[in-house]
Amino acid sequence: MSFYCIGNWKMHKTPQEAKTFLQTQKLKSTPKTILVGFAVPSLVGQSASEALKDSSVLWGGQNCYSEKQGAFTGETSPYVLKEMGASFCLVGHSERRQVFLETDEMIGNKVKAVQDNGMTPLLCIGETSEDRKWNRTEEVVLSQLRQGLAKADTKKPLWVAYEPVWAIGTGQVATLEQVEHAHKFIHRFLVENFRGGVPVLYGGSVKPDNAGAISKLESVNGFLVGGASLDIDVWNQLLGSCV
Ligand code: PGA
Repeated sequence: MSFYCIGNWKMHKTPQEAKTFLQTQKLKSTPKTILVGFAVPSLVGQSASEALKDSSVLWGGQNCYSEKQGAFTGETSPYVLKEMGASFCLVGHSERRQVFLETDEMIGNKVKAVQDNGMTPLLCIGETSEDRKWNRTEEVVLSQLRQGLAKADTKKPLWVAYEPVWAIGTGQVATLEQVEHAHKFIHRFLVENFRGGVPVLYGGSVKPDNAGAISKLESVNGFLVGGASLDIDVWNQLLGSCV
């Protein structure tokens, strides 16, 4: 299995900035074992698509609605993302859950919609600091997995990202033991309830100086990277330090 390095740009970069970044990235030689992708703002999708033409670098959405079309003012259609050239879409990122109050049920519907429209869902799960304090990490992760995958098709592609909420954008990365424990737990759930071979990515303050050690953990199949994916030099330093 390749090692996945997916950048999550969140609400950063204009179409022009994205184009410049991605055209430069396309010319960089990354190890063949690393699959590189960027989750870009919807409004930047067209420019990402043009910049990455004939490239092995993928791009995807950060969110979409669970319906293909209809009276859903302001929403992004998975069908349109696909037509624009997206190959994957994040679903249930903690900012969607916390700021936009997405429920596990909505997230389960979105996972299905992304698959139905020919893209790979990257289902994001993870506990808050409160959950961890009260020893509820496994319970929370389990419930997010069960509901997030309730309508998913086991025969279609799926990626999962474990992102402890307290580690996102805080500089407070999870310890190797915490990452290993959660990833093994998630892999076990997937093998027993979904299928084997699903890549499980780690996210939460991944930087060039901690990526090397985390990427060596057997249960970690890749990274979902926010802050460190915005600057092309930092990003390529990070890629260079993986596995
Ligand atoms: P971070 O964000 O790398 O800035 O912590 C990760 C994410 O939100 O996916």
